[in-house]
Amino acid sequence: MDRVPVRELRPGMVVKEDVVCPRTKTTLVKAGVTLNEAIIMSLVKRSILSIAISDRYTLMLNPIDSLRKKLLQMAEERMALYAPNDRGANLSDEVYDVSRRILPIMHQIFANEDLLSLLMELRVLDNDDFYNHIVNTGVLSLLIGGLMNFSDEDLYCLGMGAFLHDVGLREMPFLIGGGGQELSNYQKAQFAEHSRYGYYILKEMGMPEAVADIVLNHHERWDGSGYPHGKKGKDIPLGSRILAVVEEYDTMVNMEGKLPKEALERLMEGKNVYFDGKIVDVFWNNIAVYPLGSLVSLSTGETGVVINVRKNSGIKPIVKVYFNRVNRPMKQPKVIDLAENSDIFIKKIL
Ligand SMILES: [Fe+2]
Repeated sequence: MDRVPVRELRPGMVVKEDVVCPRTKTTLVKAGVTLNEAIIMSLVKRSILSIAISDRYTLMLNPIDSLRKKLLQMAEERMALYAPNDRGANLSDEVYDVSRRILPIMHQIFANEDLLSLLMELRVLDNDDFYNHIVNTGVLSLLIGGLMNFSDEDLYCLGMGAFLHDVGLREMPFLIGGGGQELSNYQKAQFAEHSRYGYYILKEMGMPEAVADIVLNHHERWDGSGYPHGKKGKDIPLGSRILAVVEEYDTMVNMEGKLPKEALERLMEGKNVYFDGKIVDVFWNNIAVYPLGSLVSLSTGETGVVINVRKNSGIKPIVKVYFNRVNRPMKQPKVIDLAENSDIFIKKIL
């Protein structure tokens, strides 16, 4: 049967069989109805997993649709990592509640054809690290915005800005994928223009000013040391201040290979210097950088699994050790609370 997961539905598809709510047994959408965004959103909100669609293949042959599917899948995977679908597996109850609220907004963002066509252009530059960075940054920004009680509309703009924050690099593709190589002075000067380029690209496409503004200011820093205008403190839009923190974090971890612990410590050092201190605190207090269930290697050489992220701060979870320092299974696994053993730390996520 031509069942299509709800995340892959798009306006214009025709429903093949009545969609019935599994709980109330009432018919939500009748067979023959042509889907629009509002109907798709209501199915997402009611946690319907898939529905039968007529003629699914001809409607799925558009590269933009394939990209939408891939992006949603990547973004939902990242979300499940930073905010698992289990209250107790999160660092705080708030992050769990926020993640549930964000999911339909993320679907709405990826329904925007302009955003997808721009991301398509970046995708064809074919650098996986860069692309993962875009998705991580978007998901983390939405979580932080939600934790700071953004309205749905503000979250939508923040997410749009975050997923498109580096779109200006479209004009300078030679700067993408240097493998962490030091840039020449000329390249640095070019790079520093990407936020301004991004602003004009988005304005030209008719994106809201709030979205373009987030992109324009995402390299500004709290103390005025950023670019392009050297804005300071609260003169920098809140969305850009959030983006500054999460982009820096993700660059350190996923592009420069730093440990989440080191990256978070660097953010703490930059608190109220480069970054809005309140945002760094929201990150520190809510995002479990070593998610529950992660397999980790400790500085002692032992290997274990993160079994509690809630009790201590995000960089000091409780780990159950299963393999000793010569990689032999232990007869009696032992529990190490990293908050109580300050000389032991997570060396690697396996
Ligand atoms: Fe950037």
